[in-house]
Amino acid sequence: MELQPGELEMIRNEVEAVLQRYGVERENLIPILQEVQNRLGYLPKEAMQQIAENMKIPEIDVYGVGTFYNQFRLNPPGKHQIKVCMGTACHMMGGHIILDSFERRLNIKEGETTPDREFSLERVACVGCCALAPVVVVDEKVESKVSPIRVDGILLTFEIEKQKSGEEKGQEEEGSGQ
Ligand code: FES
Repeated sequence: MELQPGELEMIRNEVEAVLQRYGVERENLIPILQEVQNRLGYLPKEAMQQIAENMKIPEIDVYGVGTFYNQFRLNPPGKHQIKVCMGTACHMMGGHIILDSFERRLNIKEGETTPDREFSLERVACVGCCALAPVVVVDEKVESKVSPIRVDGILLTFEIEKQKSGEEKGQEEEGSGQ
């Protein structure tokens, strides 16, 4: 995943601050990774490299911990977060088809973020609305009885919003240029 302008510097500063706070003893690796993720929203590979260098441990060990525990996310959260429920009820009602539809439409796998960082996709355990299965949580909104057509509809809504806000921005810029 490509970093955005200024992001590398921000990562470096945050990691530095966390390392100063926790020290570089190896037993602190997990709390350090947790704190870095709290601050950045994910664990960029650049952060893991920096941690490995400072703690003088092999990079592969830091990656190993980052990938072993599912509390850690290795991709930045998207502007819109799509969580497909894979609890028993949703799975029985075709949750995997819904997940598959999102993966195809967004061209990413679950656990990933689109290159423009608009969407991230993940599977989650039961969100507690089994009667509405299959369920998808889009940002904070619960979508019930989702079908592949509804997947298209959800993404289309965001597409239209994005176009609208782009047009409004263009009009503002035109207006301010006069
Ligand atoms: S299994 Fe999906 S809401 Fe319970």
